[in-house]
Amino acid sequence: MDEVIRIAVVGTGDVAMDHAATLTAPSPVAAEIVAAADTDRTRLDAFLTEHRTSAGYDDLDELLVRSRPDLVYLCTPPGLHRDQALACLRSGASVLVEKPPALSLREFDEIATAVSGPPWFATVFQHRFGQGQANLKALAGSELLGRPLLAVCHTTWFRDQAYFDVPWRGRWETEGGGPTMGLGIHQMDMMLDLLGDWTEVRAVTRTQARRTETEDVSLAHVTFAGGAVASVVNSALSPRQESYLRYDFEYATVEVSHLYGYRDEDWRVTPVPGHDDVLAAWKAGMTGAGQDPAAQNSRSGHWAQFARVLSSLRDGAPPPVPLAESRRTLSLVAAIYASAATDRPVRPSDLSPGTPFYDSMAGHRGRSA
Ligand SMILES: NC(=O)c1ccc[n+]([C@@H]2O[C@H](COP(=O)([O-])OP(=O)(O)OC[C@H]3O[C@@H](n4cnc5c(N)ncnc54)[C@H](O)[C@@H]3O)[C@@H](O)[C@H]2O)c1
Repeated sequence: MDEVIRIAVVGTGDVAMDHAATLTAPSPVAAEIVAAADTDRTRLDAFLTEHRTSAGYDDLDELLVRSRPDLVYLCTPPGLHRDQALACLRSGASVLVEKPPALSLREFDEIATAVSGPPWFATVFQHRFGQGQANLKALAGSELLGRPLLAVCHTTWFRDQAYFDVPWRGRWETEGGGPTMGLGIHQMDMMLDLLGDWTEVRAVTRTQARRTETEDVSLAHVTFAGGAVASVVNSALSPRQESYLRYDFEYATVEVSHLYGYRDEDWRVTPVPGHDDVLAAWKAGMTGAGQDPAAQNSRSGHWAQFARVLSSLRDGAPPPVPLAESRRTLSLVAAIYASAATDRPVRPSDLSPGTPFYDSMAGHRGRSA
């Protein structure tokens, strides 16, 4: 790979405008936005002006042939991710896709099958990359916290009707779900990053207040292979917004409360009396911020993940998040929809190829992904 990583941004809407600049922010790896594509000329022009780039396209295939990017940052609506990712991979470009990576497990597997590496395929799950999550993962692997017993994973956000009125949102065929797929997926990914494989899900979904084809709230009980159990809420109708994760280990409770990104001070550790060594270890772990360039400001967010992605590409290694872990997060979303729709507990084998919720988050409701 050349010294400067050549990046194309596809879909120049809200997320691209907010985050693409972070890809070329000061980082140990030099990168340049060489091209962009969007079917909306006004949005594309605004993006090109902002990034001082003249190579704008309304067609992805033309961009891939003419600009030969090393990496495509895919920021289009989810219903386009599978086909666009496959086109990029076929052209030799790696893909960093905004969540959700695909509309269904079937689509995800079609992409994964096309990855021989390089080129690579990775999903933006930026909240894995703050210092607090890294610290917690390291501590959870030690004896200090003991076993994880109980987790609470709540994404209680507020999205008004106008949010759902955007044509691709809140529809199975274009977004693949409601707040479970589109909002809570970040927190659920953080929880799975820590607790590992889920083994059973019992869930309900409801459409309480928004005009939408999908749910506007979901509630689930999740069991993990390691024995922990979790309560999960994903909501788009909660006026006091919060992203909350709580883990009750044998010897301490660890919590984080934030909205769209946590800082060190958003974490709280409460040890069982007699286990104050947990607090000392937690504080020592947090002082690592700044040594790892990806955790320089210790905040979770796009920049921290992007720095890791660029380093991996430069080193010829697969970028985070691993395919199997993105798939696991998508499978939890599918399990919530499957359990809610069938009114039964769902295990991973219920989502095997050939089953309705493997093919579509809408499953037996007959809508195709
Ligand atoms: N990581 C996060 O925190 C985060 C936050 C919000 C959204 N997202 C995800 O980012 C993605 C984009 O969301 P958004 O809010 O920016 O949406 P958006 O609607 O603002 O932008 C999407 C853009 O894609 C363009 N587009 C549509 N069809 C196209 C095509 N065929 N080729 C090229 N461009 C095309 C649209 O014109 C639009 O400009 C979604 O997958 C969403 O779930 C991630």
